[in-house]
Amino acid sequence: MTTSIPATLIPGDGIGPEIVDATLTALDALKAPFAWDTQIAGLGGVKASGDPLPKATLDSIRSTRLALKGPLETPSGGGYRSSNVRLREEFQLYANLRPARTIIPGGRFEKIDLMIVRENLEGLYIGHEHYVRIDGDPHAVGMATGINTRQGCRRVLEYAFDTAIAAGRKKVTLVHKANIMKVLTGLFLETGEQLYAEKYKGKFELDSIIVDACAMKLVLNPWQFDMLVTTNLFGDILSDLVAGLVGGLGMAPGANIGTDAAIFEAVHGSAPDIAGKGIANPTALLLAAAMMLDHTKMPELAARLRTAIDQTLNIDNVRTGDLGGTANTAAFTKALVARINGG
Ligand code: NAI
Repeated sequence: MTTSIPATLIPGDGIGPEIVDATLTALDALKAPFAWDTQIAGLGGVKASGDPLPKATLDSIRSTRLALKGPLETPSGGGYRSSNVRLREEFQLYANLRPARTIIPGGRFEKIDLMIVRENLEGLYIGHEHYVRIDGDPHAVGMATGINTRQGCRRVLEYAFDTAIAAGRKKVTLVHKANIMKVLTGLFLETGEQLYAEKYKGKFELDSIIVDACAMKLVLNPWQFDMLVTTNLFGDILSDLVAGLVGGLGMAPGANIGTDAAIFEAVHGSAPDIAGKGIANPTALLLAAAMMLDHTKMPELAARLRTAIDQTLNIDNVRTGDLGGTANTAAFTKALVARINGG
């Protein structure tokens, strides 16, 4: 008998509970042995307890070291600091792995199979920002400080290189802007090249590219890349670009991997414009659940889930509105479960 695996579940805000429900239904159909501890965060946390990241949620993840998370709302400009960023910091989730694979043929780009590893804790996202008041204008100047460390670069690069080998990737591309931010992103490039020479030479090819050229080449000819590894801000932007290559945010999963925990989520946000309508596409979170199954050493269940998603979308042609279909979340989930059950 399989022992159950304790895991924290955060349904999240907006469409979160809808796509989490769909994902739990699929995981139940697979008989995935997760024992869920449901917790709140984001806007839900603020409404329930005045805290976007309540202590009980942190304690739960501290004990399970594993979580599946719906999107969490963050106000733009003022308001509370992103619970996602705080979760990454709290559990030192230093690597964000975002695979992008074409599932539905016939889109603008065919046969995309690309991985991005984004550094998740450093760079311009550390939140050291302030305004400078001049002549009565409190917001006359906006300033932000970026920090990259040798150790921080090295651990995410090691994670990326090890993942490249495990996934049979042939080439890893370091993405940087070391021509302009010579120190901040130069350190990342330098550390990557040194690490490769030290430990990884010959195991895969390593090259590097400036982020703006990378963005252009991803649109002109994405097939020239195999795995990209980059700093926090560039990774955030490029991973959304890559999600666009495979049909949009509704298809893009992400894993936040760290020394203290791993948190799996969809790349997209809480989609307030469609929340509560029952029409959200749960595929990204389902693919994140497949990554979680891989992470917990259940690759057969992960493969069954991915196959069932493929079949539902491509053989049954059951698709949600964002993919040009007419199915709502419930209809998609029903068709998916039928496929999981061998239908
Ligand atoms: P968003 O990703 O929520 O939505 C962008 C567009 O994509 C919207 O039109 C939305 O309807 C659509 N969309 C997103 N996911 C979809 C799905 N599964 N099925 C169908 N359509 C989908 O981005 P937005 O509007 O900029 O952010 C909304 C909130 O989400 C913000 O508070 C933001 O901070 C938060 N957010 C949270 C993330 C997380 O928890 N990991 C990631 C990104 C944003």
